[in-house]
Amino acid sequence: MAQQITLETYLAGWGSVEPGRRAIASVLKAIAEAGRQISDVVAEGALAGNLGRVVGRNSGGDDQKGLDTLAHDLLVRALGRTPVACIASEEADAPIQVDLNAPLAVALDPLDGSSNIDTNAAVGTIFSVLRASGSANGVDSIFLQPGSRQIAAGYLIYGPQCALVLTVGKGTQIFALDRASGTFRMTCPFAQVPERAREYAINASNYRHWSEAIRAYVDDCVAGQDGPRGEDFNMRWLASMVGECHRILARGGVFIYPQDARKGYEQGRLRLIYEANPIAWLIEGAGGRATNGRERILDLVPRRLHEHTPLIFGSREEVDRIARYATAVSASERSPLFSQRGLFRA
Ligand code: F6P
Repeated sequence: MAQQITLETYLAGWGSVEPGRRAIASVLKAIAEAGRQISDVVAEGALAGNLGRVVGRNSGGDDQKGLDTLAHDLLVRALGRTPVACIASEEADAPIQVDLNAPLAVALDPLDGSSNIDTNAAVGTIFSVLRASGSANGVDSIFLQPGSRQIAAGYLIYGPQCALVLTVGKGTQIFALDRASGTFRMTCPFAQVPERAREYAINASNYRHWSEAIRAYVDDCVAGQDGPRGEDFNMRWLASMVGECHRILARGGVFIYPQDARKGYEQGRLRLIYEANPIAWLIEGAGGRATNGRERILDLVPRRLHEHTPLIFGSREEVDRIARYATAVSASERSPLFSQRGLFRA
C-alpha cells in the first residue's frame, strides 16, 4: 500500500501558501500531539487509574470526570506553547488567557462523550480555531463569532482506532494515528457524507419531552415500510457525538439532539461554540448539512460562551426533511389542512 501523507507534511504544504497559516498549523500540531497523549491514556483504561470517577461539575452542570480534567490540562499545556491569545474550554467557566497579542483563539471540548469512559466505547476531543479579534469587549467576546468564521476545526476520536478529522476549509480530511511511529497519516483526503441514508441517532428515552415535529419525524421512521416513508430505518445512540459523527462520515445518517421540555434542555444539550460549530463545519466540508432544526448552525451568532443549541446533522436529504417537519407541524397548528404528512413520503 502507498505510504499515506503525514499530518505534518500536509500542514507544512498547506501552511507554506500564506504566512498566517503557519501559526494555525502549529496550533493543529499541538492539538494532535495532546490528542495522541490522551489516546494513550484512554487505551490504558483502568490501568491508568479510575479516570471515570466524578471529580467536579462544570459550568454547564455536567459531572466532570477524571479524564475530562486530564484531557483539558494536556490540551491547555500543549496550546500554551503556540500563538494563541486565549483558550475556551467546556471544562472551564471563563476563557484561559495565554498571550492576548497572539493571533488565534481555540475553543475546546476536551472530552466529548465522557459518560462512556468506563464502558470502553469511543470518546473524543472537539476543537475550533478562530481569529482572536474583538478582545476590546472582553475575552469572552473573541469567541462570540459565527461558526462560518472558523479557520480550522476538527475532532480526535479515541476508539478502537485513534483518528483525527480535520477541516481548514478545503473539504474534510481523516488521519489515523500510526501508533508505531506516533504520527497521524491521511486515510481519507475528502470525506463524503452519503446524501441519503436510512439511519438516525437520537436518545429516544426523551420522546415524551420532544416537540411535535421531532416526534412526527421519529414516528414515521419507526413506522418503516408501513408508514408514510415506505422504508425501514435503523436507530443508533452511542451517547458520544464524535462516535456518531464518525459513523455518519463513513456511511451517512442523521444525528438529532433537539431542544426538549426538560429544565435546562430548552436549547438542547450541545454547546454551540465547542461542539456544534466544529462538527457543522466538518459535516458541511463533507457535503452534509447541520442545522438547529431550522437554521444553518454556521450562521448562528453565539451570545454566550457556554450557549447550547439544538443540533441536527448528517445526510443532506434527511436534515432538510427534518426542517420540513418543523415547518409543516407549525403550519398544521395553524390549519388542520396541513396535518397530512403525505409530503414526507420517501
Ligand atoms: O455532552 C455531549 C454528549 O456526551 C454527546 O457526546 C452525546 O451525544 C450526548 O451528550 C449524550 O447525551 P444524553 O446522555 O442526553 O443522551
